Amino acid sequence: MARTALVTGGSRGIGAAISKALKAEGYEVAATYAGNDAAAAKFTEETGIKTYKWNVADYAESKAGIEQVEADLGPVDVVVANAGITRDAMFHRMTPEQWNDVIATNLTGVFNTVHPVWSGMRDRKFGRVIVISSINGQKGQAGQVNYAATKAGDLGIVKSLAQEGAKFGITANAICPGYIATEMVMAIDESVREKIIKGIPVGRLGEPEEIARCVTFLASEDSGFINGSTISANGAQFFV
Ligand code: CAA
Repeated sequence: MARTALVTGGSRGIGAAISKALKAEGYEVAATYAGNDAAAAKFTEETGIKTYKWNVADYAESKAGIEQVEADLGPVDVVVANAGITRDAMFHRMTPEQWNDVIATNLTGVFNTVHPVWSGMRDRKFGRVIVISSINGQKGQAGQVNYAATKAGDLGIVKSLAQEGAKFGITANAICPGYIATEMVMAIDESVREKIIKGIPVGRLGEPEEIARCVTFLASEDSGFINGSTISANGAQFFV
């Protein structure tokens, strides 16, 4: 029987590429989205992937949403915590609201997404937890104290979950994309973005599909000995 995969933020950007790649591999896929009903409906129409609307920053909403996914598609064996936002500002201008919004969505959102599926994975002795972190969680980034904190936090989450889940057949890994051609990166001021691209040795932004292929590998049975790791996919921009 096909395994079920849940991808938060799975109807746009990197998440959409992940949802499509998992579907192509034969998974039943549920993609969540936060607000844009029209975009989600279009995504479902084009791909046949079911979309679910909830706010990953809210535990009760996440838990109820996941219960619905499991009722529709079966127990979640693969969870991809991908949903994330930026609220970039130099630190001296960063507001408590910008800090709190990013922590709530990007970091607490990972707890809210993984916690409701964790016990089921333990019971079934199989699970794949994949958290989409960022190059900026590894190297830090001026203007992203909030975002970098959450993405560095992701690495602590997967290293800890890996230790807790290992004896239950669960792996937890992170992927650190570099700068990928998505709306999030395109929202950076063009002159700033040009400078960033000059700093990427391969001379281009990454493609969402290049991250999706990392996910399908980590989701597979073949990756069972990779646990607590971080895959960096950044065009040689930064080495850990
Ligand atoms: N390092 C150190 N200082 C920097 C800096 C840097 N990289 N960039 C700017 N500064 C300094 C400037 O020199 C300037 O100093 P002075 O006032 O002394 O001249 C000061 O910061 C303010 O600069 P700006 O006037 O440019 O500030 P701003 O408020 O207009 O813009 C910003 C600030 C919004 C953070 C803008 O610089 C920006 O967008 N930077 C890009 C941040 C980034 O990489 N975001 C990634 C988004 S994509 C993503 O997050 C996906 C992923 O995982 C990779």
